[in-house]
Amino acid sequence: MRTTKYFRRFRMEFDLMHQSIAKPVLPEGFQWVAWHPAILESHAEVKSRSFEHEIDTQLFRSLTNIEGCRRLMREISLHHEFVPDSTWLIRHQLNRNDPVESCGTIQGVKRSRLVGAIQNVGTVPEHRGLGLGRALVLQSLLGFRRAQLSRVTLDVTAKNTLAVELYQSIGFRLIRTMYKEVLVTREPSMA
Ligand SMILES: CC(C)(COP(=O)(O)OP(=O)(O)OC[C@H]1O[C@@H](n2cnc3c(N)ncnc32)[C@H](O)[C@@H]1OP(=O)(O)O)[C@@H](O)C(=O)NCCC(=O)NCCS
Repeated sequence: MRTTKYFRRFRMEFDLMHQSIAKPVLPEGFQWVAWHPAILESHAEVKSRSFEHEIDTQLFRSLTNIEGCRRLMREISLHHEFVPDSTWLIRHQLNRNDPVESCGTIQGVKRSRLVGAIQNVGTVPEHRGLGLGRALVLQSLLGFRRAQLSRVTLDVTAKNTLAVELYQSIGFRLIRTMYKEVLVTREPSMA
């Protein structure tokens, strides 16, 4: 049975002209990787692993599988207002001989001449709670500032409390509440 579900979403905004941006800090063993088309696949993989089983997969089909994440990364990176300097990957390698693992992703585009938009922040489950999410957002904000934008927005599902609180603690404030309509399939209930 098909039914419509409404998900409350918040648009949050950071004022680059009047707010300060804390220094992004990565724990030992983690490194920044700047955007390059050759690492599109790594971004797609991290995005897919980060969003797996998370609430946003109920709203955005592309986040439910690797092909969708690849397509999304291609769309974002080919967008005429893509901001490479706000797009970052985090890699992890504790010792020189350990395998290198990609574990965090963030992307940025311009919404208008002076306003940037953060897309799809994600860290893989096994590296959460270490400050990677915070560092990704701060690093992206610095990139938007270098691109001479004055504000940055992001959209977040209201039930994603951890993400909402993270953005608030960085300095984002709520500017709009929206509802996203999603058609869902519901199992018929037993009589
Ligand atoms: C939201 C997300 C990016 C945060 O990533 P992260 O690497 O865990 O972020 P941080 O380590 O910087 O932690 C952010 C805050 O959440 C808290 N936190 C993180 N994991 C937690 C956990 N398992 N339990 C309780 N608190 C936790 C941290 O304490 C931190 O708060 P603090 O900075 O005040 O100490 C990550 O959970 C994620 O990828 N979620 C799935 C994808 C998603 O929903 N993205 C957001 C779309 S808008």
